[in-house]
Amino acid sequence: MPTDAHDLPLSNIVDDLAEQGWSLRPLFVPNALTLELADECRRRAARGALTPAGVGKAQEVREGIRGDRIEWLDAGQSAACDGYLALLDELRLALNRELFLGLEDYESHFALYPPGAFYQKHLDRFRDDDRRAVSVVLYLNPDWQPEHGGALRLYLADGSIRDIAPEAGSLVVFLSAEMLHEVLPTSRERLSLTGWFRRRGADPL
Ligand code: OGA
Ligand code: MN
Repeated sequence: MPTDAHDLPLSNIVDDLAEQGWSLRPLFVPNALTLELADECRRRAARGALTPAGVGKAQEVREGIRGDRIEWLDAGQSAACDGYLALLDELRLALNRELFLGLEDYESHFALYPPGAFYQKHLDRFRDDDRRAVSVVLYLNPDWQPEHGGALRLYLADGSIRDIAPEAGSLVVFLSAEMLHEVLPTSRERLSLTGWFRRRGADPL
């Protein structure tokens, strides 16, 4: 028996990333924590804290490319967020230990896709900033049905596609610079917590 309940899922994610460049863990996060994070996302939205997401390092808003609304996360804002950040730090350390990725920090935002919203096919690494190395998305939507749309579509290295439903508690992890992906149009409000493990930036001259 592993002494730490998270040992097994973490090593599965590490192995998946090394072998295929992506990983899906249904129920990575305990249900109670997922529900708290979903409530927090809705509260932030209700008080008007979520703003239209941008594209590229300059975060220029272009609704024809992505239609979600986001708010960046900071440590110390809520017990739920801090609990999730602690889980992800374990994952960061496991990736560094096993794959020598040198991941230094993590940035993340809540995202809400209103009905009709989508995010066109893209890579998560910016042209002018290559610090983002590993993308991590946690979904916050109980009882997601196929007819709600809103799947994350991954374009895999072998030419096939893989659609992932944004079901509460599922965690998707993939290599930011390599995995082309998109969010298909959703017909229902779609909540997530999306973030990136980043490598150290280039040293200033
Ligand atoms: C992103 C993104 C995927 C998703 O925010 O860059 O691709 O499933 N999100 O929400
Ligand atoms: Mn993306």
